[in-house]
Amino acid sequence: MKKILVTGGLGFIGSHTVVELQNEGFDVVIIDNLSNSKIEVLDNIKEITGTKPDLFQIDLRVKKDVVDFFSNNTIDGIIHFAAFKAVGESVQNPLDYYENNIGSLVHILQEMRDRNIDNFIFSSSCTVYGQADELPITENAPIKHALSPYGNTKQIGEEVIIDTCKANNLNAISLRYFNPIGAHDTTKIGELPIGIPQNLIPYITQTAAGIREQLSIFGNDYNTPDGTAIRDYIHVVDLAKAHIAALKRLIQKENKTNFEFFNVGTGKGSSVLEIVKAFEVATNQKLNYKIADRREGDIAAAYADTTLANSELKWKTEKTIEQALQSAWKWQKKQKS
Ligand code: WQD
Repeated sequence: MKKILVTGGLGFIGSHTVVELQNEGFDVVIIDNLSNSKIEVLDNIKEITGTKPDLFQIDLRVKKDVVDFFSNNTIDGIIHFAAFKAVGESVQNPLDYYENNIGSLVHILQEMRDRNIDNFIFSSSCTVYGQADELPITENAPIKHALSPYGNTKQIGEEVIIDTCKANNLNAISLRYFNPIGAHDTTKIGELPIGIPQNLIPYITQTAAGIREQLSIFGNDYNTPDGTAIRDYIHVVDLAKAHIAALKRLIQKENKTNFEFFNVGTGKGSSVLEIVKAFEVATNQKLNYKIADRREGDIAAAYADTTLANSELKWKTEKTIEQALQSAWKWQKKQKS
């Protein structure tokens, strides 16, 4: 049984990916420093799959701890989620983001190089494209100057991986996520935003739950059909399954180059107002919202061309946006307010 390290495995996307890895028969070990996740997620994963992954509470910025981990654990593949990911926060504290997101990545890659660990999946983001010139966004779209240090760490991260794979004949796949939403059907794992949610869906569900007074829709003067910004919202379970498909591609040596990257979305764009309406219909909850000013750094529209991921990863989304919104609402209702 292949042993897969999942860094950030107690996080939102990480925990859903751990469940899918275990469902596929992989032996999973997690590194997580709990800076943006909760320890009870470990037991929640066990409740779903029956297997509690080993957890190492390590800070990947501490090289000695990373070396010790790899000295004591034989790893066949790595899925690297561990990173800070709040766009706004990254503007306030850029050095924290470069130290953590790039520093941690370098420590992991050094172990891959030194121990010839060959299968690496990197958690990237459609943020690397900025506001793309053409929609839907293909993998050929140019990488634009990052609008935030967070986005820049994803761009730099990919460059560091490309150079490392080339120099050491290693193989990696970068998955460029669009907007992950929803929760596991069992409602045992889901998104756990700490403090005021930055992202749209948790803010919507907390407003519907009465935790937040009112949703502010950031701008209705974009050049889109209803004036509100468009994104590609993908169910987190579909996104998790894309990681399994990418990992299998590397293990089976089906990759065509040392470094491949794929856009992971549904291929469908939805505006903020469309999401609000879809949420109200899917959950029979009336949402209290107002139109507010645009949010600094937001782009007007982004949604994926999924042709490459569909064909090369033999993966496609299976869940609808309604199912994703319903699962997010079911998850919210389970949370203590
Ligand atoms: C979606 C839309 C907002 C909140 C970011 C990162 C991306 C990924 C996902 C990490 C936008 C609008 C939001 C609110 C609103 N993060 N909105 N009111 O900004 O597309 O992507 O999060 O991997 O890398 O860039 O996601 O959910 O913040 O916003 O109107 O209270 O909802 O303006 O149009 P975003 P988001």
